[in-house]
Amino acid sequence: MSAAILSVAHVGVRFGGLVAIADLHFDVAQGEIVSLIGPNGAGKTTAFNVMTGFLKPSQGEVRFRGTSLTGLQPHEITRLGLSRTFQRTSVFPDDTVFENVMIGLHRQGGGMSRTLLLDALLARTRASERALRERAEALLDWVGLAGRAGEKAGALAYGEQRLVGVALALATEPAMLLLDEPVSGMNASETRIFVRLIRQIRERGITVLLVEHDMPMVMEVSDRIVVLNHGRLIAEGRPEAIRSDPAVIEAYLGQGSAARRAAAGAREVAHA
Ligand SMILES: Nc1ncnc2c1ncn2[C@@H]1O[C@H](COP(=O)(O)OP(=O)(O)OP(=O)(O)O)[C@@H](O)[C@H]1O
Ligand SMILES: [Mg+2]
Repeated sequence: MSAAILSVAHVGVRFGGLVAIADLHFDVAQGEIVSLIGPNGAGKTTAFNVMTGFLKPSQGEVRFRGTSLTGLQPHEITRLGLSRTFQRTSVFPDDTVFENVMIGLHRQGGGMSRTLLLDALLARTRASERALRERAEALLDWVGLAGRAGEKAGALAYGEQRLVGVALALATEPAMLLLDEPVSGMNASETRIFVRLIRQIRERGITVLLVEHDMPMVMEVSDRIVVLNHGRLIAEGRPEAIRSDPAVIEAYLGQGSAARRAAAGAREVAHA
């Protein structure tokens, strides 16, 4: 295995008396596609919030490309090359898909040089504005929304709206991308297309950490899977090993109907 790009070292998060994460530790190697799975409330989004600086862990630390992320703000972590999408995507519904990406690029600089960004924001020279528009077009093309660029974002299906969030995360030119339930709200064919997109993202050298409840999709796309239950790591390994791991099956069977469907999906894949 190549060197770790991300190391989660004994991270714990408490909310008052609730232990949301306890002693979480795992590495993601450069170029891997790893999934972080677990029943509702297992602590997956909380783990993402720690990795991206939205939450301070009660203990432990996260290292990214050898740098400790302790004490860094979200925008500083993004600048180091770690970017994320959110479980709840919000678009500006009355603006077009293209305008949504342009707004995002103006906000975050879109990975452009500072000078170019300042130009875009202050001088709005034709050249810099054109560069930004070309960048937005390239991003929409990458995530498969080029044909919808002129439509109001609010008119897109929920699953397609999530792709706008992916485009904005990619706009920061990350070395690693964290995706929080990217295919929720997508139908089967949209999900298949999204699996291809994840693979293309990895082919471009971006490491991927995925949180997802769609077990067939997780089993298909992941090199490795890390499983959380009640904030604790209960299993880690290749998809073949995870789908037959008794502790994982038990964790999913003990939960509500969504988790039972997810477990059933995993078994279907196992027996396919
Ligand atoms: N800001 C917060 N304050 C208090 N409790 C929180 C907070 N954020 C999360 N929690 C609690 O921490 C636990 C882990 O939540 P988290 O959102 O990380 O789970 P999850 O694995 O992402 O679940 P889901 O699959 O439903 O998205 C849950 O019990 C949740 O209620
Ligand atoms: Mg979550």
